[in-house]
Amino acid sequence: MINLIVACGKNRVIGNRGRLPWSIQEDWDYFMKTTQNGTMIMGRTCYQEFAPHSKNRDVIALTRDPHFQYPLAKTANSLKEAISLASRNTIWICGGEALYQEAFPIASRLYLTLIDGDFVGDVHFPAWEEIFTEVISHKNVKLPEFALQFLILEKTNNL
Ligand SMILES: NC(=O)c1ccc[n+]([C@@H]2O[C@H](COP(=O)([O-])OP(=O)(O)OC[C@H]3O[C@@H](n4cnc5c(N)ncnc54)[C@H](OP(=O)(O)O)[C@@H]3O)[C@@H](O)[C@H]2O)c1
Repeated sequence: MINLIVACGKNRVIGNRGRLPWSIQEDWDYFMKTTQNGTMIMGRTCYQEFAPHSKNRDVIALTRDPHFQYPLAKTANSLKEAISLASRNTIWICGGEALYQEAFPIASRLYLTLIDGDFVGDVHFPAWEEIFTEVISHKNVKLPEFALQFLILEKTNNL
């Protein structure tokens, strides 16, 4: 099964200058726990941020540069190649923007954390609302700083 996982602000911002625009422990813990037994596929910029956490995980970093090598990740030059290298049953597409867009047609589920705030950023999550229309699970968490919605969404009839 191929799933997308993302946290995004009200204005769709997901990243700024190669980093997450926020530090929200609850969402980070959720992300790490949800993805822990799957294969994680991510773009090079995401991987550069995630690298310190990739120990004991199956991580595939995407790059079109055939010379990139990372000590704690496999590399692939296309999404198709990355999927063929996955060693776990569940694949988590972890961003960024272009990779999410590319994976929309092949993903079964979207694990979406909606953060009730607008953020300054240079990377956005593509419009998902008309694709992932079925709410499988919905949990609200109120933090002192933000309200979070943890959503699991599917496509209608899972097309
Ligand atoms: N909030 C969240 O849940 C979340 C999730 C993910 C990312 N982010 C944020 O988003 C930002 C990073 O995302 P981004 O969109 O800027 O970059 P990115 O997707 O992490 O990296 C882009 C690079 O990945 C490689 N790549 C992407 N798709 C590929 C494909 N199909 N085939 C081969 N290589 C491919 C290319 O590397 P080369 O240039 O080496 O060829 C491309 O330049 C960071 O700020 C991060 O914190 C946030």
